Amino acid sequence: MDNVKTIAIDGPSASGKSTVSKGVAKELGFTYVDSGALYRGVTWQALRKGVDTKDPEAVIDSMYDADWDFFVQDGATVFSIDGDVPVQELREKDVRESVANVAAIPEVRKFVVENLQSLANFGSLVMEGRDIGTVVFPDSPYKFYLDADPEERAMRRYRELVSAGEDEKAHEVMESLKKRDKIDSTRKTDPLVVAPGALVIDSTSMTLEDVIRTVIDAVMR
Ligand code: CDP
Repeated sequence: MDNVKTIAIDGPSASGKSTVSKGVAKELGFTYVDSGALYRGVTWQALRKGVDTKDPEAVIDSMYDADWDFFVQDGATVFSIDGDVPVQELREKDVRESVANVAAIPEVRKFVVENLQSLANFGSLVMEGRDIGTVVFPDSPYKFYLDADPEERAMRRYRELVSAGEDEKAHEVMESLKKRDKIDSTRKTDPLVVAPGALVIDSTSMTLEDVIRTVIDAVMR
């Protein structure tokens, strides 16, 4: 475990975390972890069990009632819930709209954080999220906070949704992003903040390659 490195990449929605984290992981041969997928998984499980996601007790019960399993596939961690591996389902609209509220439930965060920490058993990781540098791996020397102007982030997310075949309106994407940012940065438990010692990267006018290079150079220093 001594040589295991954990690179923490935090930031708001559509700040480029996923693409950058995957790029860094690939170049360094580390395993990529999308921590948001776990919050989405808890949300998806609740929704498919017909649970009201505004009812914390019911969400927590559906989370603990399920059987969770984690493994590595193609350089990334994947999980199954009661034997099913949700991937595309996690990006769907109903999950997207409820996930920030589910992720604000302290017991949900405790469950997800413990599972995320245990993934270091798989080896060196690049983990993206909102609280990786502050809560999940606070002792990691490799912390980054990725940001971009809200307009640029909304535009990136809009393009992503449209290319995924979703019929979204640009102004609605902007509104939904703002709403989620607000919940994420004002919640009581583990809000999105810049971790002490994190390198802040504003990617608004940087290329993807530049951002990846900046992260790798800082890790290699
Ligand atoms: O892709 P995007 O950045 O929009 O979202 P995500 O990374 O899939 O995360 C979905 C939601 O999970 C966020 O809006 C947060 O509410 C929550 N989340 C969190 O609270 N802490 C994390 N480490 C990761 C995600």
